[in-house]
Amino acid sequence: MIRIDDTRCVRCGLCARVCPLHCFHVESDGISIHHEEYCMHCGHCAAACPSAAIWLDDTDPDTLEPLSPLPDTTSLTALIKARRSIRDFKQESVPENVLLQALDTVRYAPTGKNLENVSWLVLEGRDTLRRVADCVIDLFRQDKRLAALVRSHERGADPIFRGAPCAVFACASGEYDLDMVNCSIAVSALDLLLPTMGLGGCWAGYVMRAAALDENVRKAMGTEEGLRPLAGLMVGIPAVSYRRVPARRPLRVIMVKGETA
Ligand SMILES: Cc1cc2nc3c(=O)[nH]c(=O)nc-3n(C[C@H](O)[C@H](O)[C@H](O)COP(=O)(O)O)c2cc1C
Repeated sequence: MIRIDDTRCVRCGLCARVCPLHCFHVESDGISIHHEEYCMHCGHCAAACPSAAIWLDDTDPDTLEPLSPLPDTTSLTALIKARRSIRDFKQESVPENVLLQALDTVRYAPTGKNLENVSWLVLEGRDTLRRVADCVIDLFRQDKRLAALVRSHERGADPIFRGAPCAVFACASGEYDLDMVNCSIAVSALDLLLPTMGLGGCWAGYVMRAAALDENVRKAMGTEEGLRPLAGLMVGIPAVSYRRVPARRPLRVIMVKGETA
């Protein structure tokens, strides 16, 4: 529900400019609201309003968090280049409050249609992860190309979770065609955030693939009814650090240019 506080509204029309679904119309005597049923609750109107005049879904605009200064390009570039997949973790468990703080921040990652439909499944403890890895390996036994992986698991190594003390999975119903994208964006944001909190991660691609194919794996993971773990990350305290940025393939880009900007 959208409500404009007329005592505050300065009729600048910014709400109408930022609303992706054109719910606001600028009239000669003020702003009117149209097709409120299309509102996707993205909050852009309330976030942009210079006079904090917009109540969205009963949220008092004065309670919205003010913006903090952004990291500069150098800092963010350094983070993107320094983030590495971690496959060697300390035995210590991940502090729950730190993990929850990271997941809480990731709520602000974008979702298609602002569905905000990503929820998290956190698997903790080596015994839990081993049980899930056993199930993943059972599925992989059917694929001869994965024989080396199966052998490594049977020898007691952990090629699936890489010895991590914890793994987190972004889950959605899978009914929306962009659910996998939503979950991957959330995990990607988490992956970037972790090194700033003394943690490290590595995408759990084998588990993602196995969970997509096999209900037994989803069950072993404790996936909630109606949800699918669509993207995941092993998480822990890194036992290794890196000194340099590894080389990457050169930038490939095609620019299709028009005559006007
Ligand atoms: C979708 C995806 C799935 C991945 N799955 C695994 C995995 O199951 N096990 C693993 O050790 N690494 C996995 N990785 C990590 C990649 O191997 C790694 O990102 C790549 O080698 C580049 O290294 P960097 O992340 O340090 O830049 C995965 C990465 C992505 C993006």
